[in-house]
Amino acid sequence: MSSPPTFAARLIAWQEAHGRHDLPWQQTRDPYRIWLSEIMLQQTQVATVIPYYLRFLERFPDIAALAAATQAEVLEYWAGLGYYARGRNLHAAAQLIASEHGGRFPATAEQIAELPGIGRSTAAAIAGFAFGARGAILDGNVKRVLTRVFGIEGFPGRPAVERELWALAESLLPAEKIEIYTQGIMDLGATLCTRSRPNCGECPMRGLCVAEQEGRQAELPTAKPARQIPEKQTTVCVFFDGKRVLLERRPPSGIWGGMLALPEGLPEQLAPSLGVCLGSTRALAELRHTFTHFRLTLTPVLCRVAAPAACNEANMEWVALTRIDDAALPTPIRKILASLARAGGD
Ligand code: ADE
Repeated sequence: MSSPPTFAARLIAWQEAHGRHDLPWQQTRDPYRIWLSEIMLQQTQVATVIPYYLRFLERFPDIAALAAATQAEVLEYWAGLGYYARGRNLHAAAQLIASEHGGRFPATAEQIAELPGIGRSTAAAIAGFAFGARGAILDGNVKRVLTRVFGIEGFPGRPAVERELWALAESLLPAEKIEIYTQGIMDLGATLCTRSRPNCGECPMRGLCVAEQEGRQAELPTAKPARQIPEKQTTVCVFFDGKRVLLERRPPSGIWGGMLALPEGLPEQLAPSLGVCLGSTRALAELRHTFTHFRLTLTPVLCRVAAPAACNEANMEWVALTRIDDAALPTPIRKILASLARAGGD
């Protein structure tokens, strides 16, 4: 009697018949294009990534073009995708490849993992897709698939559970067709083995999957132990001279690092140090934004200032409301300015 198909055999057959084959980064072996896709796809869904990916590649078609750009310009093309450290690391890594690898993308997962912003899983995915290198990946989707199929208990972010999952992921790898296998496990996690309401009826792991057999799809993977995330509040000023707003270039690292944002503080405190002559002020609608480690309530205050206003601070720029679409703005700041633009500046 032949033994039932293994995890890898089921996955490869499923990917070939039902997986995704026409995503823009699947038509290439160019490590730069694959790298860019893997970075953009971290914490971000395929449908969101595609337009950003295509626009980014049009402006930065290769490593040399990216390395030659300024960080501010790279962030303009990242604006709206969130998790901006990804964009900064991508730029820094391109410069490192240009200066230390002769402009050639490194070809082994170990070397790839040494670049800024690339962890073990992403390095293995890039090495697999670009060079056919055999290696396991373990992102959030893969953790969900493995904990369900093999009934692995415990929060997958816990080091002991994560070690177990890495060992399992390594042990499951097929001898060949690594690219199809890797894309298959990503696609299975993204399309069928979803967090809520997984489509077990169409899953190739039916009959093998512990969660499906025991009806425990909602319990696996084990949830993260509950943690209160801190709440913070800050007031930001929209200094507005009728046409332009005053924006601050954030320091290179930290929240919204390198991007343009609204100056933080109360109008009466900020206006003298920025050299603007404060007119009327009006509170705008509050906005909430959740970061990885805290939740922020932004209280914007519209501050009319007399035109023309010159600002001596090097990190401050007057930007026309008509130009904000193209500026490197984090999403909450873009929302505030977009509502101001819609209101015609009133
Ligand atoms: N998520 C991470 N990498 C991916 C890829 N290559 N294709 C689809 N979704 C992904």
